[in-house]
Parts: sequence; structure tokens; C-alpha cells
Amino acid sequence: MAKVAIVYHSGYGHTKLLAEAVAKGAASVAGTKVDLVPVEEADAKIEILNAADAIIFGSPTYMGDVSGQFKTWADTTAKVWFGQGWKDKIAAGFTNSGNLSGDKLNTLQTMWALAMQHSMIWVSLGVMPKTEKDGLVLNRLAGYGGAFSISENAAPGPDNPDKGDIATGAALGQRVAEVTKKFKG
Ligand SMILES: Cc1cc2nc3c(=O)[nH]c(=O)nc-3n(C[C@H](O)[C@H](O)[C@H](O)COP(=O)(O)O)c2cc1C
Repeated sequence: MAKVAIVYHSGYGHTKLLAEAVAKGAASVAGTKVDLVPVEEADAKIEILNAADAIIFGSPTYMGDVSGQFKTWADTTAKVWFGQGWKDKIAAGFTNSGNLSGDKLNTLQTMWALAMQHSMIWVSLGVMPKTEKDGLVLNRLAGYGGAFSISENAAPGPDNPDKGDIATGAALGQRVAEVTKKFKG
């Protein structure tokens, strides 16, 4: 059984929708156990993360970077970092923001740096830009390092973030689960 944990923050619910899609995508791979961990519970649930084969990081982009809440939690993982407890776990990331760019790449790079400090193995999105699937456009934002979505600063709902962006999140979750399964042998 490959264990995939998704640790995420969402202030207003948009990134939560993306996190749920990532979880659904990971769970679609047979033999995968998925845990969705809101960052507010991540400290109490650290054993879930410690036991995971893969950890996927998710945060909205606030002021061009991960949210303060995500960063505060990330700093608490220094306790794990000291013993390199997450070494060789698979890692990936996703972010949602109000604008087309909004500096989402910088948010992903913060997650990447966190993963590198923990000696984790970063998995890319693996979906070509503007891939059409089931009537949706996946990776319309042409990200490669992870999944991006836009919320247009409107309330979260069935069309916000865009269904194609949500499907992009599911594709990331699926890929991480597949890679984790291969990696575990
Ligand atoms: C404090 C704050 C800072 C923000 N900074 C950015 C930003 O740098 N770039 C951007 O595109 N959107 C920015 N936004 C918009 C959010 O990314 C957007 O509303 C997103 O959907 C919030 O996700 P959430 O609902 O998961 O919290 C910001 C919003 C807030 C509240």
C-alpha cells in the first residue's frame, strides 16, 4: 500500500477544492491510501506525514508566496529536518491564486525548497500545457513543477477554480500516486 499525504492550507476554500481534487486523483490509483491534512491539524497529525511515502504540499499564493499559515507550519518541520526523517519521500506541490500569474511559481519554489531541505524527491506535473481531456483543458497555465489554479477572486464553487484547473490537480495526485507506487517497487 502506497501512502500519500496531502498537507494544505486554504484561507477561503479555493485551495481546499484543489486539495480535494489532488486527493481524488491519488486515490484513483489502486493500492493507494490517501490522507488529506489541513495545515491547522498537521502538527497533531505529524505521524501520518512521518509514515507517508509521499507528501504533497498545497497553499494559496498570498503576497507572492505560500500563506503565512503554511510557512509557520513548514518551519515546525525543522524538528523532522534535524533527523532527516522525510529523506527519500516523494514530494510535489500545488497552489491556487486570484490572478493568472500572481507569482504562483514562487509559491511552488518555496515548497520545492522545503522538500529539498528534507532530502525529498520532487515530482513534476507531467501534463503538457493545454492538454484536452474529457472536454476540459488541463494545465492551461502551463506549469511544469506542480499544479496551478486560478480563483479569479470570486467565491469558491463548482466552476471556481475552473474545472480544468481542478482536473489538473487530480492529474498531479494521480501522477504522484503512480510514481510512489513505482518507487516503492
Ligand atoms: C493576503 C492575501 C494575499 C494575496 N496575494 C495574492 C498574490 O500574491 N497573487 C495572487 O494572484 N493572488 C493573491 N491573493 C488572492 C488569493 O490567492 C486568492 O483569493 C485565493 O483564491 C485564495 O485561496 P484560498 O481560498 O484557498 O485561501 C491574495 C489573497 C490574500 C487574502
